[in-house]
Amino acid sequence: MPEFLETAAGIAREAGALIAGYHSRGIGFELKGDYDLVTEADRASERLIVERLRNYFPTHSVVAEEGGGQEGSSEYRWYVDPLDGTTNFAHGFPMFNVTLALERAGELIAGVIYHPIHEEMFTAEAGGGAYLNNRRIHVSKVSRINDALVATGFPSRKRHENVNVHFYYQLAMMSHGVRRAGAAALDLAYVACGRLDAFWEFGLNPWDMAAGVLLVREAGGTASGMHGEDFSLRGPHMLADNGLLHQPMLDLFTEIFAGEYRYPMPEIVKK
Ligand code: IPD
Ligand code: CA
Ligand code: CA
Repeated sequence: MPEFLETAAGIAREAGALIAGYHSRGIGFELKGDYDLVTEADRASERLIVERLRNYFPTHSVVAEEGGGQEGSSEYRWYVDPLDGTTNFAHGFPMFNVTLALERAGELIAGVIYHPIHEEMFTAEAGGGAYLNNRRIHVSKVSRINDALVATGFPSRKRHENVNVHFYYQLAMMSHGVRRAGAAALDLAYVACGRLDAFWEFGLNPWDMAAGVLLVREAGGTASGMHGEDFSLRGPHMLADNGLLHQPMLDLFTEIFAGEYRYPMPEIVKK
């Protein structure tokens, strides 16, 4: 197992250096959908990662965001986001990362998230704890939403269908603040190390969540769907938190899903 984690961390570090190079030189972007950006850095990073994984683990399956993966013959499957936070990256906003996770027979067993600008490497393996630059990390001890710093995100695809603004508003009224930094894997890594107390989002893909969910769990936190159902990489939404906030967050979500708002949205009054 350490072989998997160390190899993944080495690959993420190499891909992180590659995208940091593009970042310092400045880079253009293309649109995959109306607002869904992709850059040469996403593709170059994915090529590098998939090539390395193929060399080290030729029988493993690889699911990669830009489509460069492969179907393998073994029970191992990698989830790869070669550049998480592409919109930030394309605008020079320095919150982006490279993330890889490994599943064996459907169980997440290893994950890495690397933020090249801060040189922060988050790593976790099932049963082995979670680490930031090789130091053990733990979730926070905040137990009330009113004392929490929380985070969420809004997908670029089908954003007109996203109901998250309702959840955002209630949490913005109740908590110390809601951060929307634009890189879901980093949001999860920050829950794992206690910089954030909870994170939720609709419509994420498996490669956005896989490493981060393992990190949160190994750091002592909890992950599920937003109704409290078992976490699924293919679920429509997710909640990850320090464990103490899990039930309070689920109770709040139950109310919002039912259309009951603790804080009604204010009327716009022209001044
Ligand atoms: C996106 C980021 C963002 C989240 C979106 C994701 P990408 O990933 O993680 O924070 O809100 O839902 O799609 O496209 O930059 O890899
Ligand atoms: Ca992503
Ligand atoms: Ca991506």
